[in-house]
Amino acid sequence: MAPQPYPYGDITVVELVPLNLRFVWLGFLLIYKVLAFPFSHQYTFKRTLWRTFVRTVAPNSTLRQMQWVSPRVAVMYERFINSSSGKNLEIIHEDVGEGASLHWIGPKKNEHTILYLHGGGYVLPALDGHFLMVDYWRTEAKRKYGVNLSVAFLEYSLINHAPWPAQLHQGILAVNHILTSGIPPSALVIAGDSAGGHLIAALFAHMLHPHPSGLPSVTPLAFPLAGAALISPWMSFSEAAPSFARNAHRELLPLKTLRRWADLIKASRPVGLEDGPWFEPATAEPDWWAGLAGIVEHILYAAGDGEVMVDDAVVAAERMREGAGKKLQLDVFIQPGGGHNEPLAEMASGEVPGVMSQRVVDWLGELWGQ
Ligand SMILES: *[C@@H]1O[C@H](CO)[C@@H](O)[C@H](O)[C@H]1NC(C)=O
Ligand SMILES: *[C@@H]1O[C@H](CO)[C@@H](O)[C@H](O)[C@H]1NC(C)=O
Ligand SMILES: *[C@@H]1O[C@H](CO)[C@@H](O)[C@H](O)[C@H]1NC(C)=O
Repeated sequence: MAPQPYPYGDITVVELVPLNLRFVWLGFLLIYKVLAFPFSHQYTFKRTLWRTFVRTVAPNSTLRQMQWVSPRVAVMYERFINSSSGKNLEIIHEDVGEGASLHWIGPKKNEHTILYLHGGGYVLPALDGHFLMVDYWRTEAKRKYGVNLSVAFLEYSLINHAPWPAQLHQGILAVNHILTSGIPPSALVIAGDSAGGHLIAALFAHMLHPHPSGLPSVTPLAFPLAGAALISPWMSFSEAAPSFARNAHRELLPLKTLRRWADLIKASRPVGLEDGPWFEPATAEPDWWAGLAGIVEHILYAAGDGEVMVDDAVVAAERMREGAGKKLQLDVFIQPGGGHNEPLAEMASGEVPGVMSQRVVDWLGELWGQ
């Protein structure tokens, strides 16, 4: 069934004009970057162009402006499947309720499944790099470890279309949809980047301590999920962690932009909603995660040491490990010199997948390989 349409991509002339001026400015900047490239060696050429694009369009743009530029997830997914990268794949959409849908890369009934929760600060849809990245993991896990794997890519609502915790609600429905379709928990990994990592932590929090807004529960699990992979997760909307000051100068997104998105996410919540660690997973004490090993067997945290969110991710990982006890196998992989969402940045700028993507593939091999 086709995904439910929801208002997306509307824009007014008042918003369109300044946006187009920003593109004119982007044109000048790109010419400058091309001319200056021989004298700068910090990033590859394509990465330089990608960073310039992100840093010019995201800051100061309204959510409607950014969403006008970025087609919704269902469209990006179909473009990927229809492109040469998606050959031999079929378009499969499934409604999961509450306006959310799953878009399948690979057959619905496969031996193993990754439920993927994309990042973008709950304000941006998935980029083409997201599809290239998860498909790379899928094909590499097969090539290196013989793992037959499909990806169920969740399209959840962005916060200007449905306020938090609607995204958590949609994530719960996606997990339930997959588990009730006959896929056993031992054949399911939940993975996500940035805000998608936040959503994974919120899901686990809800499974241990039902969210106060009365969301449905996750289908009782007969045995734990195989694993969860949190790539550069956004675990706190505060900037108190030292890595914010330490790494701000090299972060892909200016702090001002991250702060604006964090404020929008916080402001979207209903008045009086008691949010606690479901919303700010980095603030959860170790005890909060007691029982986690009964929900998930392996967790991989991956982040770059050059990103502003790395300290919150490491703190959250350590507290999860402490609270869950020895039964949970939790690995932390920190990429030296890595920025935010390095596997996505590589794919978006046409580079060869680097060490973090390889770590994810090897981790899938450890879970499910022959
Ligand atoms: C973005 O907005 C800030 C104020 O929030 C302003 O100082 C700055 O000049 C703007 N930048 C662009 C490129 O429009
Ligand atoms: C992809 O191809 C299908 C089948 O040819 C077509 O119906 C669909 O509109 C295409 N999607 C996009 C986004 O181009
Ligand atoms: C994966 O699927 C292929 C057929 O596509 C099958 O031959 C193979 O045995 C499967 N792998 C495993 C681990 O069962």
